Amino acid sequence: MTSKTNSPLPVDVEAGQRYSWCSCGFSQTMPLCDHAHRQFSEKKSVKFIAEKTETIHLCGCAETSTPPYCDNSNQCQKG
Ligand code: FES
Repeated sequence: MTSKTNSPLPVDVEAGQRYSWCSCGFSQTMPLCDHAHRQFSEKKSVKFIAEKTETIHLCGCAETSTPPYCDNSNQCQKG
């Protein structure tokens, strides 16, 4: 079961911390990876380190060409 959505999702991040964005769309904690890809997909998460402490919006459909950020490839509704 997927929990993808066609809108960017907010995530509170801390400067210097590492995060894993879900690229498979099966995570129950979208837009972050919960390791569901190990069971349902060949895809792997995209790791990134937050530059600032802030709320950012990450792709929620897992189809972006600019991970982890939305590229509006699914005509997503901007949050
Ligand atoms: S659960 Fe989707 S990439 Fe890990």
